[in-house]
Amino acid sequence: MGQPSCTPNDIKPLPVALPLNEEGLAFYEKKYQRDYNQWTEILQRNVERMSRGSLSLEWMNTDGSAWGKRAKPSSRGLTYSDVNKLPTSGEMPATATWMNFTPRGSIRDRYREEMPVIDDYTVVSRDELWAGNVVTLYEEAVARQWSATRDIPWGELEALPEDLEKASCQLFTFLTEVEFVAGDFPAKWLYRIPQDFLEVKSFLATQLMDEARHQEVFRKRALAGGGLLHASPGFEWALKAILDAPTHTMGTFLLNLLGEGLILSIFRSGEMIAKTHVDKEIFRRTLQDEARHVSYGVLELKNYLDTHPDRAKALEEMHRFADVGEQIILTAFTEATVIEPVAILLGGGLDKIEHGLEGMLKVWSMFIEEYLQRCERAGFDRRARCKIPVDAPW
Ligand SMILES: [Fe+2]
Ligand SMILES: [Fe+2]
Repeated sequence: MGQPSCTPNDIKPLPVALPLNEEGLAFYEKKYQRDYNQWTEILQRNVERMSRGSLSLEWMNTDGSAWGKRAKPSSRGLTYSDVNKLPTSGEMPATATWMNFTPRGSIRDRYREEMPVIDDYTVVSRDELWAGNVVTLYEEAVARQWSATRDIPWGELEALPEDLEKASCQLFTFLTEVEFVAGDFPAKWLYRIPQDFLEVKSFLATQLMDEARHQEVFRKRALAGGGLLHASPGFEWALKAILDAPTHTMGTFLLNLLGEGLILSIFRSGEMIAKTHVDKEIFRRTLQDEARHVSYGVLELKNYLDTHPDRAKALEEMHRFADVGEQIILTAFTEATVIEPVAILLGGGLDKIEHGLEGMLKVWSMFIEEYLQRCERAGFDRRARCKIPVDAPW
C-alpha cells in the first residue's frame, strides 16, 4: 500500500447545490470540529496501519467473550427468547451505561474510551421501560402485521343511510385524531432509550407501525364513507397530556393502560357499533393490535411499582399523575363528537339516539370497571381516587 489516499483535510465539503439550513449546518460543523481530535485519532491510526500494508485482525480476537455458542431456533423460529438464553447475547443491565450504538453482547469494553456519547439517551433505567411480556408481544406483533390497503375488503363497503354514515365517519375521524398521539408517544421516547434495551425498542417500533396503520385504516374508512368530519378540542387536550407526560411509565399508563384501554373497550363493542362487515373487520384487526399495547402498559406499570426502591413514593407519584390524567381523559370522553355518533350507531339511527345513550350507560360503567381492573392487575388501586365517575354524566 502506498501513501494514505485520504486524510481528514481531504474530506470534501457537502455539495453547495443542496438547500442547506445555514444555522443548523454551522452548529453541526462546530460540534464535529470540537471532537475533531477524538475521531481523527481513529482515522489516522487506521490510515497509518493501512499505509504500512499491515492488517489489524483484532476483530477476530474473542478474548473475554463467550464466542462460539450457536443460537438454536425453537418451534416458532429463532426468537429473541431463544437467543437471549446465550451468554453471548449479553445481559440487559438495570442501568444502561453504553450511550452509543454498540450492540449488547458485542466485544466493546476495550473501546469504551474512544466511543462517542449520544446525549439523547436519557432513559437509562430498565424499570422505567421493562415489562415481563415485552419480548413475546414483539414476536406476536411482527407475526400479525396486516395491510390497511390489502386486508380490508374495501370493494364491499356498502353505503349506509346518511345518519349512520355520518356517525361512522365522525367516529373514524376522532379515532384518526387519537391514533396520531398513539404513534407520536412511543416515537418521542424511542430515541431516548439506549440500545441495551433493544427488545423494548423493537416492541415500541411495532407499536409505531401499528398506530401508523390504525391512523391509515380509520382515515381511509372515513374517506370511503363520504369524508372526514369534525376535530375534537376535548380530545386534543387529552392527547397533549399524554405526549407531555414527564416519564415514560407515566405516559404509558395514560396512553396504553387508560386511553388505549378505553379504545379497546370501544373496539370490543365493535360488533354493536360497526354497521357494515367492512367496519367489523377494521375493528377486529385494530383490536388485536391494541390488546398488545394495553397488555404492555399494564405489565410495565406493574414492573415499575414492583421494582421501585420506595413503592409508597412511586404509588403516590402515579396517583398524582393519574389525578390529572383521568380528568383530562374525562374531558375527551364527554365530547359530542364521540358520545353522539357512538350513541347513534348503538341505537341504530338518529331517531334512536336516546336508546343508544341508554345503552352507553352500561358501556360506560363497563369501560370504567375494566380500567380499574387493569390498574389493580398492575398493583395500582385507583378505586378510591378515580376522577372518572363510574356512572356516565348524562
Ligand atoms: Fe391504535
Ligand atoms: Fe395502540
